[in-house]
Amino acid sequence: MRKRRRGEPDERASQPGSCARKPLISGNWKMHKNHLEAIAFIQKLSYALSADDHEHVDVSVHPPFTGLRSAQVVLDTDKLPILLGAQNCHFEADGAFTGEVSPSMLAKLDVRLVVVGHSERRQLFGETDDDVNRKARAVLAAGMTPIVAVGETLEQRNSHQTESVVAAQVAAALAGVSSQQVAGLVVAYEPIWAIGTGKVSSPGDAQQVCRLIRDQVGEMFGQEPAEGVRIQYGGSVKPVNASALMAEPDIDGALVGGASLNADDFARIVRYRLSE
Ligand code: PGA
Repeated sequence: MRKRRRGEPDERASQPGSCARKPLISGNWKMHKNHLEAIAFIQKLSYALSADDHEHVDVSVHPPFTGLRSAQVVLDTDKLPILLGAQNCHFEADGAFTGEVSPSMLAKLDVRLVVVGHSERRQLFGETDDDVNRKARAVLAAGMTPIVAVGETLEQRNSHQTESVVAAQVAAALAGVSSQQVAGLVVAYEPIWAIGTGKVSSPGDAQQVCRLIRDQVGEMFGQEPAEGVRIQYGGSVKPVNASALMAEPDIDGALVGGASLNADDFARIVRYRLSE
């Protein structure tokens, strides 16, 4: 396969348009798996998935930074149609930022997707809406696709602030992005109370917020780009609940944490359509 040049659209990821959006199932490994475990996982996952699975679903894995190079080599050498993702990056191109990794460094490793604004980054590492916006724009500028993560806390949900909080996060994260860039974007709706807790949102509730996200994007950029945006649900997605969530019209994929660490479980989530 010809190498993609910087800024060129990703041929392996589905293109937005008025036709049905191709689902994207992403495994966010968080701070799990060293580089050897990453290689073993990818090989196992690739055996579990068929060409038909890849036809129906885009699949990405997001190892920690230390696993990216090994993952890239195995994906490239074995020509595996699994997309490589990262969990975070800095918004600057280079400079005196000890401990940080730039978007262009990730792009050079054939990383296609970068999660920005995960709630753990926001809550544990103090990332602000402005940081998330700068990261999203930097990822786009480096020719990759951001997965912009948004979601409300339990307190916000209980006090009926879900819609205003999520709409504000989306508006802040996408400020200054062009409508052309928006059409290829991924947004992950991850209610914080559902992350790692086993408490999954009901498909109906998740759909309602994902619809709101699409409407918010539509208000900012117009209906057509909004229809192209893929919206993932994240928060305790498991093989048993994936197909019900994916049946909702505005849920176009899943950002999976815990269940993405086991290749069999993750493959079953990718193959959600077979358990319907
Ligand atoms: P979980 O994590 O699937 O373990 O709930 C999801 C996430 O944080 O992306």
